[in-house]
Amino acid sequence: MQFVSISGQIDQLSTPCLILPVYSEGEQDTLTEAFDQANDGQIANILERGDANGKAGNTLLIQMPASHKTERVLLVGFGERGKTSEQDFNKAASASINALKSLPIKSVCSALLNVEVINKAPQWKVRQSVIKSQEALYQYNQTLTSSAPEAYQLERCEILVVAGISSDEIEQAANTAASIANGIEVAKKLADLPGNICTPSYLADSAIALGKQYDSLKVTVLDEAEMEELGMGSLLSVSRGSRQPAKLISMEHCGGPASQKPVVIIGKGLTFDAGGISIKPSSGMDEMKYDMCGGASVFGVMQMCAELNLPINVVGIVPSSENLPDGDANKPGDIVTSMAGLTIEILNTDAEGRLILCDALTYAAKFEPEVVIDIATLTGACVVALGKHATGLLANNDELADELLAAGKNAGDKAWQLPLWEEYQPQLKSNFADLANIGGPAGGTITAACFLSRFTEDYKWAHLDIAGTAWKSGSDKGATGRPVHMLSQFILDRC
Ligand code: BES
Ligand code: MN
Ligand code: ZN
Repeated sequence: MQFVSISGQIDQLSTPCLILPVYSEGEQDTLTEAFDQANDGQIANILERGDANGKAGNTLLIQMPASHKTERVLLVGFGERGKTSEQDFNKAASASINALKSLPIKSVCSALLNVEVINKAPQWKVRQSVIKSQEALYQYNQTLTSSAPEAYQLERCEILVVAGISSDEIEQAANTAASIANGIEVAKKLADLPGNICTPSYLADSAIALGKQYDSLKVTVLDEAEMEELGMGSLLSVSRGSRQPAKLISMEHCGGPASQKPVVIIGKGLTFDAGGISIKPSSGMDEMKYDMCGGASVFGVMQMCAELNLPINVVGIVPSSENLPDGDANKPGDIVTSMAGLTIEILNTDAEGRLILCDALTYAAKFEPEVVIDIATLTGACVVALGKHATGLLANNDELADELLAAGKNAGDKAWQLPLWEEYQPQLKSNFADLANIGGPAGGTITAACFLSRFTEDYKWAHLDIAGTAWKSGSDKGATGRPVHMLSQFILDRC
């Protein structure tokens, strides 16, 4: 969808649909009132009757008389006036597009910038509207034939200029947001693909294609022989259990000066996690195609950086493999040697994410990073601890952690920090290797991060556990594209 700014008198707009805010309590919005006064007070009546209630996300579509330049009006609730929270705003922005997307409407005009959101600038509202709209319009169709959904017709949204933001500022914010939304979509599309299509080779080819699309992106893919050469015994041990060859994908966005150290983001690209010999229960195992959501988010962020030509150096790394129970697969008790030289006793082959990430983290040092952030659907324990709303964050540097927490809060793609204390490290002790790959049932998200921390001692590092936030189960099953927005905000803040 294309977003443009527009100014004009509220009751004189030529549009198939005008989106107007209403509140559940307090005075109504000034633009809504002005429109209503020019139209016999119909909206006031509707609110009085209770057909629209102004609660955040509540919508009501009204047909205007045939002679009217504004063909329809969509009333959208933003909660109590003056108390609209970030969540209320996001909910309302999504609801407006959800209410309209199946109608034969190509273009809408929105007055939602007139809504005051506590502590938020108009630019934030533009950004959220764009991102929530594009999210609402996302349709999976890659593997659907006769049941493919009909394409939505909505293609343009005019945002009404209000006091406090110019039309240029609106369009600039919309442009940035569109690239973030595209990044989110890239992540969702890759993640929603099944494991038999989205293999490590498929991800590698996607990266090469992305590199061809943007001049600023340099893509390299290491195959298993090259990884062997580098001594990536831990990553390769996971791949041995599968017929699909592992790939180590690097995407370098060189937008900053050559002397600037890059932000390195590393995403777990496990295209299917059956658990290996420590095989998972079969129920719900299909969802383990999402074990590459960290990698998918790296693709999304790299595309965003390239599309906006951001003046910063960012490197995206995606270690990619399957985790299956082949005759040559890792066995509990096996000991492998990582690229860093540390030996690892594999006590559970299902704790494979850390086995592929540790070698990628060691590899990352070659880029002389300013900071390294890894993103991984790493532990079921994170879903138990934080549920589906907060990404788990652990870091060896508090400033970096605070920066990510703030970016997540601003983006509405939030993380919550867990401790990475020394006290947890002994849980990884092994009698036969430098460390074990699991730390027992207590504090599983923390001990997973402790494992990774042993490979990140030379730089500032943060770990995002997105096991709970990267996808939704149930009837709404699908990828969320998180944490592309948080990471995009983090990178934009650094530009
Ligand atoms: N990919 C899983 C983590 C996961 C589980 C993500 C559920 C999303 C939902 C990871 O590879 C894994 O299997 N982790 C194990 C670790 C355990 C063996 C220490 C887990 O969480 O059970
Ligand atoms: Mn696993
Ligand atoms: Zn996994």
